[in-house]
Amino acid sequence: MVARTFARKMRLRESALLVALLSLAACQQPAPPLPPAEAPGPEVAEAVAVLHPTEGNQVTGVVHFSRTAEGIRIEATVSGLSPGRHGFHIHEWGDCSAPDATSAGGHFNPTGQPHGAPDSAARHVGDLGNLEAGEDGMASYSRVDTVVAFSGPRSIIGRAVIVHAAEDDLTSQPTGNAGGRLACGVIGIAAPATE
Ligand code: CU
Ligand code: ZN
Repeated sequence: MVARTFARKMRLRESALLVALLSLAACQQPAPPLPPAEAPGPEVAEAVAVLHPTEGNQVTGVVHFSRTAEGIRIEATVSGLSPGRHGFHIHEWGDCSAPDATSAGGHFNPTGQPHGAPDSAARHVGDLGNLEAGEDGMASYSRVDTVVAFSGPRSIIGRAVIVHAAEDDLTSQPTGNAGGRLACGVIGIAAPATE
């Protein structure tokens, strides 16, 4: 009787040991390999640029970009402007580090086109026209654009939104004669909309 109990205890102890060894082996399974660093990631659905004033200015705002079936919806709210029109563009580099935001480079123009209006057949990808501020210095902008993109050569992700001191005349080359830069914001990937 005593011997049988001892044998059963041993079996229990052995099976516990076996379970421990097996789980240890499972822990040491190598992790699945990482996909290549350059593999395409998930598609971007939403992007955002927070506009910060350049040196000596007070212009702030937020620009939302959303992918829709018709194109990229661009919606902006900007404050601190003088009343009237202000050039509104996507510039080539997502670099707002210079006090006057010249570090953002020129208009984003990957297709080598002349400067134009947002609805012109020929335009820079970054040509969004003008904001129009009221007496309160506030401007709202809304447009669905089929030229800007979230991937490929016309991708605006990582580039910069610039608000200008003067009106974009939509014809002068290469900038629409829109004057200095009042605000700059880098376009980043935003969380998908929850509805
Ligand atoms: Cu500009
Ligand atoms: Zn342009």
